[in-house]
Amino acid sequence: KILILDFGSQFTQLIARRVRELNIYCEIHPFNNFPEVDSTVKGIILSGSPYSVRQADAPQFDFARHHRTLPILGVCYGAQYIAHYNAGEVSPSSTREYGRANLQYIADGNPLFKEIPQHSQVWMSHADTIQNVPADFEIIASTDSVRVAAYHIKDTQTFGIQFHPEVTHSIDGKQLLQNFLVDICGCAQDWTPDSFIETTIASLKDKLGDDKVVLGLSGGVDSSVAAVLLHHAIGKNLYCIFVDNGLLRKDEFESVLESYKHMGLNVKGVDAKQRFYDALEGLSDPEKKRKAIGRVFIEVFDDEAHQVQDVKWLGQGTIYPDVIESVSVKGPSATIKSHHNVGGLPDFMKLKVVEPLNTLFKDEVRKVGKALGIDANILGRHPFPGPGLAIRILGEVTPEKVRILQEADAIYINNLRSAGVYDKVWQAGTIFLPVQSVGVMGDERTYENVVALRAVESVDGMTADWCHLPYDLLAKISNEIINNVKGINRVVYDISSKPPATIEWE
Ligand code: XMP
Repeated sequence: KILILDFGSQFTQLIARRVRELNIYCEIHPFNNFPEVDSTVKGIILSGSPYSVRQADAPQFDFARHHRTLPILGVCYGAQYIAHYNAGEVSPSSTREYGRANLQYIADGNPLFKEIPQHSQVWMSHADTIQNVPADFEIIASTDSVRVAAYHIKDTQTFGIQFHPEVTHSIDGKQLLQNFLVDICGCAQDWTPDSFIETTIASLKDKLGDDKVVLGLSGGVDSSVAAVLLHHAIGKNLYCIFVDNGLLRKDEFESVLESYKHMGLNVKGVDAKQRFYDALEGLSDPEKKRKAIGRVFIEVFDDEAHQVQDVKWLGQGTIYPDVIESVSVKGPSATIKSHHNVGGLPDFMKLKVVEPLNTLFKDEVRKVGKALGIDANILGRHPFPGPGLAIRILGEVTPEKVRILQEADAIYINNLRSAGVYDKVWQAGTIFLPVQSVGVMGDERTYENVVALRAVESVDGMTADWCHLPYDLLAKISNEIINNVKGINRVVYDISSKPPATIEWE
């Protein structure tokens, strides 16, 4: 495997993704908590950073300890760090060095640049630049404005590059990473969904033995894939719980429960709709609604988990970005689970936790799911928030509003599917607005509610752009909703991007 040392760059996760795309396993670790290096580690990549090496509190790395024992690739700050560490000169750049540049010089025969053409386009994003390098550093690439675009410490396997090979604007970035990982580090490109499944099932068997595991299914990709992996490892000792909180999409609970049973999972569907509606009564503040839903979910899950005798483990569909988030350079996020701690932990949370997907990115989870033969309908579904329709009904939630929204939303989603655009949209949903507007139907004046349609394109939900859905499709959806859903007489389309808006309205 490859270790990526995170100095806090926004691109660190992208480096990891690129390495994984080459079928090589890698892990990200914060610079201030770097693990012991064992024989499975084939190389180290040092990330970029918002810091300057010239700052007193600049993040550090024990370079001398790993230099000459393992191949090292420094990227941007990582490259500057190594140069600075070895008494090279790093200073603020005199010209702007953001965006595209072309390599004007590439040294002949350096393994890092194997098969990379002269003038290859690279992506720069740095305020400091390496002015001078020590005598044992060989400059192996330059651009017009950056003399030290890449260097190699002679007779070692340490390299530094000023540009970012992980972004797609660096056209040959993937080739460069492959050169480093395969030719220089000697990694085998054998990390595939099938190999992941095989080793994960074996290690789950080993870890869990005859122990029982409870797991909460949500209908989403992550918990479903986690459940199927666990099922392969321990079979009937996996007890899945799928809670109907009354805030899911129309007919979703029944249809998803059915697919889970088809997959052979031992799953119990729990109708807790009324408990959630009761808890939501009178609440209109989004955060209060979220807290109430979180609290009731924990109560329901705790009750159900108690029905399983001698359970030892809690299975979770945690994925790698959640793990990185909680150990990142910026420090663990303190607020995410605050409400879990009020009044002590529920019993199920005292269980040991097993998270078979905690090394995977979302797209890898989908690939693993596909290799496991999970229903494409489950793998391809849009992200859906835990609090469900409660945060798509602005203001107070009532069962009647849920029913109206479910009808409108089903028309919207079915139309996206039949028009063949569902898979091109990252996430879509319908929002019930707390306003009434005047309309006319036949000879009657109406005074009813408005729904907003939302559809966004995104990679990870952090930023998003509204989808330019065809007008004809929007017209058809609007007509169908207004003509079929009693209580709605107006449909609007949300054309806000994130930021400054968010994907959800609450
Ligand atoms: P926003 O609205 O913040 O949403 O742009 C980003 C992504 O997160 C989802 N989301 C949630 N998911 N619990 C969840 O499990 C929540 O409270 C929640 N709020 C937003 C949202 O659907 C989108 O995918």
